[in-house]
Amino acid sequence: MKPYFEADGVQLYLGDCRDVLPALGLQADVVIADPPYGETSLPWDRWPEGWPVFMHGVSRQLWCFGSMRMFLGQHADFDGWRFAQDVIWEKQQGSGPAADRFQRVHEHVTHWYRGGWADLYRDPQRESGGLPAGLSRRRAAVGHKVNGGHLHGDKGSTVVGDGTRLVRSVIRVRNLRGAAEHPTEKPAGILRPLVAYSSPVGGLVLDPFAGSGSTLAVAREMGRRAVGIEADERYCEIAARRLAAAPLPLGEAS
Ligand SMILES: C[S@@+](CC[C@H](N)C(=O)[O-])C[C@H]1O[C@@H](n2cnc3c(N)ncnc32)[C@H](O)[C@@H]1O
Repeated sequence: MKPYFEADGVQLYLGDCRDVLPALGLQADVVIADPPYGETSLPWDRWPEGWPVFMHGVSRQLWCFGSMRMFLGQHADFDGWRFAQDVIWEKQQGSGPAADRFQRVHEHVTHWYRGGWADLYRDPQRESGGLPAGLSRRRAAVGHKVNGGHLHGDKGSTVVGDGTRLVRSVIRVRNLRGAAEHPTEKPAGILRPLVAYSSPVGGLVLDPFAGSGSTLAVAREMGRRAVGIEADERYCEIAARRLAAAPLPLGEAS
């Protein structure tokens, strides 16, 4: 099958991912999917029935963007995947039109896997975390522990001697708004931690709903190979143009 675009370890295919994937016979380190949620009147926003099943043989882990409404409504399509964790992307501005609810300023990203958890590639990400209570900068620097020999908090939230802690599951990243080329374009700041967590440098990232090519661009920027599939030729064109140009206009964490 001929890619719509190919360069620098990135391939983009035009078509329905459920038709294209079986023809490619891929093995990816991770699938990062931002499917149509099926919640708007946009012409492409229709949930592609059964798509998570098409990922079974392709990768042992899958990150999927969505709303709680989408995941509850489509949960049967995730049969065969085990739920691992969820991350919240917190945006600076809301997108929902409803005036009679809480202002919606987040999206979910759920992580699913098949087979053994221990067998997955995982690289838990760390971030600067300040100092834990009761630990001075000097004592932290030499690796002292507090609280009777135990670090405060659970392992994940603990700030260790180098001042880092696990990246938190609520990640605040500005949405692209006027800079976006796709109505639901995802900023690089929310994609980078997913790519880093689930794929090694040189690994393969699959995005079955590539849109404007954000995930492909981020994967390439981070030294991964990437395959994308997009059903709408207008978005394929935008993604191809974006991937052919450098540097890429990627959104940053706020
Ligand atoms: C939520 S958007 C993805 C946006 C993308 N993450 C970005 O940052 O630009 C979903 C995309 O999936 C595409 N799409 C819808 N059904 C599809 C299918 N069955 N196979 C492949 N792409 C599909 C739509 O055209 C749309 O561009």
